[in-house]
Amino acid sequence: MRSLIADHGRYVESFRVFLENSTEHQCMQEFIEKQLPGVISSIGNGKSTINILSVGGGAGEIDLQMLSKVQARYPGVTINNEVIEPNAGQIFSYKERVAKTSNLENIKFTWHKETAHEYESRMNAEKESKKWDFIHMVQMLYYVKDIPATIRYFHQLLEAQAKLLIILVSGTSGWETLWKKYGSRLPLNDLCSYITSADIKVILDSAGLKHQLYELPSHMDITSCFMEGNTDGELLLDFLTEACEFSKTAPPELKQQIMEELRKPECSEERDGKVLFNNNLSAIVIEP
Ligand SMILES: C[S@@+](CC[C@H](N)C(=O)[O-])C[C@H]1O[C@@H](n2cnc3c(N)ncnc32)[C@H](O)[C@@H]1O
Repeated sequence: MRSLIADHGRYVESFRVFLENSTEHQCMQEFIEKQLPGVISSIGNGKSTINILSVGGGAGEIDLQMLSKVQARYPGVTINNEVIEPNAGQIFSYKERVAKTSNLENIKFTWHKETAHEYESRMNAEKESKKWDFIHMVQMLYYVKDIPATIRYFHQLLEAQAKLLIILVSGTSGWETLWKKYGSRLPLNDLCSYITSADIKVILDSAGLKHQLYELPSHMDITSCFMEGNTDGELLLDFLTEACEFSKTAPPELKQQIMEELRKPECSEERDGKVLFNNNLSAIVIEP
């Protein structure tokens, strides 16, 4: 088995099918609507410019929704939004999205085509320690090598009233069950780690960082995974296991065990003839 992340085209394809079949972005939207205004309510007090850093911003869909909440809280204030994103295709899509979105006149966008670690190295080399009013890392911490060091680095870039927001899969999700049970037999490599909010909580507690955790209920319809030869089902299985062509390349015994696991109540619930995988997310808001 090969890691899915090593095949970029297939990764993007399976991520697209995942978004189509899950309430991933909807549950984030609900968080942005209901909770984010409270989280950002004092980040820009007394400032003429609000500095926002998006780490792993992807194609910007969630970023723009968060930005609209900052605009609503601080009308007319200039926003400097910088994005760290290593994937050129994602940056291209982000720029396209910005170009066709209205009401962004007071926001200056800058994209850095690099990883979080490359950004840190570049800043250190340039002896820069620019501070930020809001830093967010949405569904990206799986892809950094040293997670505690990454959190520590970005945390110390926070201004006095700033917030660091991390969104990733919840410790109560089916992901936690699947990864803890089968992670060691899946093609985990140094590009991706199977972590959940439960692991992040341990890191934050041991670093003494004050934080608040919000649970975001979400599910993914994985019914098609149980239809032999179904293309979307195969892409979803790849996404679940982070393995490229899991259906065709996994050892038969492992495949059978995982297929059985996916139906169990620890991972999924069956409703109206559908198998709904528990895709709950956590949003963790960290104080400066
Ligand atoms: C699952 S996507 C999430 C995108 C977006 N935040 C969202 O929620 O829609 C993860 C993003 O992190 C980016 N990424 C991967 N490794 C990274 C790293 N080491 N540093 C920063 N970003 C990274 C990927 O290119 C991808 O755009």
